[in-house]
Amino acid sequence: MPLVTSTEMFKKAYEGGYAIGAFNVNNMEIVQGITEACKEEKAPVILQVSKGARAYANHTYLVKLVEAAVIECPEIPIVLHLDHGPDFETCKSCIDGGFTSVMIDASSKPFEENIEITKKVVEYAHDHGVVVEAELGTLAGVEDDVKVEAADSSYTRPEEVEEFVSKTGCDSLAIAIGTSHGAYKFTPDQCTRNEKGILVPPPLRFDVLEEVSKRLPGFPIVLHGSSSVPQDYVKMVNTHGGKMPDAVGIPEEQLRKAATLSVCKINIDSDLRLTMTGTIREFFDEHPDKFDPREYLKPARANIKETVRHKLVNVLGCAGKA
Ligand code: G3H
Ligand code: 13P
Ligand code: ZN
Repeated sequence: MPLVTSTEMFKKAYEGGYAIGAFNVNNMEIVQGITEACKEEKAPVILQVSKGARAYANHTYLVKLVEAAVIECPEIPIVLHLDHGPDFETCKSCIDGGFTSVMIDASSKPFEENIEITKKVVEYAHDHGVVVEAELGTLAGVEDDVKVEAADSSYTRPEEVEEFVSKTGCDSLAIAIGTSHGAYKFTPDQCTRNEKGILVPPPLRFDVLEEVSKRLPGFPIVLHGSSSVPQDYVKMVNTHGGKMPDAVGIPEEQLRKAATLSVCKINIDSDLRLTMTGTIREFFDEHPDKFDPREYLKPARANIKETVRHKLVNVLGCAGKA
């Protein structure tokens, strides 16, 4: 089947109590690792491209890689989505250039300005059969070149969501309930430590999610910053020359719970980066004589596939839903 929008996917996910994985793609091995897992697990998937990915790999290369995945995986629905579109022009360029979904992220702007920019993107996107994700609230962490300190982040205000959605016409809404971008989601002083000395982050604000869902019945909610930062891979990185002290993510059981509620899209990037980097570091450490990129990219791709498979089956609950 050709690339699809997320409309049908979200409807089924909402009703079925699961979420679709939205994984960031930057090169061929990442596209292949993700889509091979989705094909084997019969899972619908969103492949998302950031402004940084377009700057790194080039729009056309990324679109063609995703189109190749569509040909190789005809039995699963695939969405091509712009992640964190910073302005109307970037969204327009992706809408004109083959994407089926875009995010306009004007969440750092004042409420009225966020509405105005989002509405403009929605009008253009809908005219072209493309769907739009918008954002209310500010996540902590790093995305593209912007770093938001925890103190400057803010939870979504439920009392704003109905007005925002009805005035903009957006198709899904990303909200801030305590997730955060990157591999260092919380500082050690925001966490407690378990008996093994591993950091335990503060719980997500399910009360905010519930309040939002009550005000927007049936409307798909999106969670960004939802990597769990698996400690096995943090250890692998650190054992083989890396330095990622106190890297910490969102516990998987909390994401699983969110997926059973109104959260229909869960964004994961850092866990794939960690998987790839840990695998390649280990390979170099164990084979200092090797220099053929295929030899280290092959296990990296295989491990990305297994990380994604784990998410589909154990976290998102979307395996078998294609
Ligand atoms: O939310 C940001 C995503 O992880 C993409 O990261 O902007 O470095 O490509 P990037
Ligand atoms: P992570 O950094 O937690 O993987 O979040 C990715 C994301 O939100 C992409 O938009
Ligand atoms: Zn994000």
